[in-house]
Amino acid sequence: MKFVITAGPTREPIDPIRYLSNRSSGKMGYAIAEAALESGHDVLLISGPVNLNPPPGAKMISTVTSDEMHDAVHDHLHDCDVLVMCAAVADYKPANVSVQKLKKHQARLSLKLIRTRDILASVAKPDRPFLVVGFAAETTNLEEYAQKKLREKNCDLIVANNVLTGIDSDENEVTIFSRTGEQQKISRAPKKSIARELVKPFSNSCEKRLTKKM
Ligand code: CTP
Repeated sequence: MKFVITAGPTREPIDPIRYLSNRSSGKMGYAIAEAALESGHDVLLISGPVNLNPPPGAKMISTVTSDEMHDAVHDHLHDCDVLVMCAAVADYKPANVSVQKLKKHQARLSLKLIRTRDILASVAKPDRPFLVVGFAAETTNLEEYAQKKLREKNCDLIVANNVLTGIDSDENEVTIFSRTGEQQKISRAPKKSIARELVKPFSNSCEKRLTKKM
């Protein structure tokens, strides 16, 4: 199967030297890429700026902004069976990017932010992969918010994790929710083990859809 996996943060520029971003390390997405390769799948990893070495055998596209990640995902959807949107895409970006460095003339500065495009929600026919997997990064009401994202972003599966304990860490604890109502909890473990546990249901669900289509 062909996996397209996004990982890491995006950076939304404010001026030539400043940006808005988040604490995503990319470890979960890179671990999923490695686990998918170990299971014999083809992997394209679309990654924001992280301090990690790409897993040997993965094709790589490096992106910086949410717009670049959006375009890279859409350029490769026609050749993808499983899309895993693990990246922590910024929700807002500055409305205007200053060409020159902003100087500190004022005592207070307000930045006007606008919404970024939602990459996951933008995945639609005719290029929709057989399996679309979203991630839900939550700090409260994990199940309720994850189920809401699953429906609103039209995912087949959503992997929910508590970012208070998971975001920068080498470990994670996740629950997979499916569109058909099943749930599977994966207890706290190193991200590499969690990734192996995730690739199994991803490939099984994709396999089921592929056979249904034949
Ligand atoms: N996502 C995306 N494009 C965005 C924002 C999020 O594709 N502009 C994807 C993420 O990669 C993830 C899923 O949507 O697979 C959920 O992301 P998350 O940050 O948990 O939620 P948001 O949609 O950003 O909502 P909120 O910040 O309100 O929780």
